[in-house]
Amino acid sequence: MARLDVTESFHGISFPGHLHTQESLESAVKFLFKDTDVLIVSYPKSGTTWMQEIVSLISSRGDPQLSRSVPNWTRAPWLEQYYCSAVLEASSAPHRVITTHLPYHLLGPALQGSKAKVLYVSRNPKDVVVSFYYFHKMANFLPEAASFPEFLDQFLQGTLHFGSWFDHIRGWTSQTAAAHRLLHVTYEQMSLDLQGTIKRVSSFLQRPLVDDEVNNCVKHCSFSSMRDNQMVNYSLVPEQIMDHSKGSFMRKGEIGDWRNLFTEEQNQHFVSVFTSKMQDCTLEFVWEKQ
Ligand code: A3P
Repeated sequence: MARLDVTESFHGISFPGHLHTQESLESAVKFLFKDTDVLIVSYPKSGTTWMQEIVSLISSRGDPQLSRSVPNWTRAPWLEQYYCSAVLEASSAPHRVITTHLPYHLLGPALQGSKAKVLYVSRNPKDVVVSFYYFHKMANFLPEAASFPEFLDQFLQGTLHFGSWFDHIRGWTSQTAAAHRLLHVTYEQMSLDLQGTIKRVSSFLQRPLVDDEVNNCVKHCSFSSMRDNQMVNYSLVPEQIMDHSKGSFMRKGEIGDWRNLFTEEQNQHFVSVFTSKMQDCTLEFVWEKQ
């Protein structure tokens, strides 16, 4: 299957051209947020789809009807993708749920002064790079993945599509970003304590749930439920865009898969780049401690 491989470059960051245009990126950074908006923010492969599902299920008090009948990209469209405004206009939902992979330095100004709630999802960057590497093999809209060592270098240099993981996390966890209504949730927290995380997110969104509702949310956003749900497992995406013979979007859903791919040398190099790039940032490897 030929790769689509059209790239849109915006403020020095590459984006897949089949979903992003200059106009859609420009309008994302000038977006008018409403105070009732919920914005899910992540670097790709950090648990974005999982958080979309959690938010959908919290909104429906654990009833899976909507998450089983409407694709995640319609329930929580990506702000920077060309179809977003049409989806939002057509939506009758009382609260808009919007997703973005944009870094804080690009989106922060649009959020200024708004009371929109921001859910920032992060994941151990070593697992992010592994998940992203396998995703490049199936996603025809991304450049062909190089060998893993080369891919890892590109990740550390911040030259992959969607830009630098380091800039992303540093921006969204900075003091300026903390001035927004922002909750930072890690993939590892979702994985180790899904029930506790759902309660934390529901209370942040001011949509408290009773225990039965929380349990229903847990059930419907487990890895196995989501893997079997066509509305979130991306099996609806045509082969030309995602080659399903080369992998699944719901791949493994585990913590620590990096250990199966990294050599000891790559791990040491990763940690030293991380330490130097995150020097003046309070975040350490929180993900490995959770
Ligand atoms: P893996 O490739 O490691 O399996 P995103 O939605 O940001 O692109 O992230 C995709 C990653 O989240 C994939 O990781 C996918 O399997 C994982 N994921 C999605 N839903 C999950 C769930 N319910 N439980 C565990 N992992 C999940």
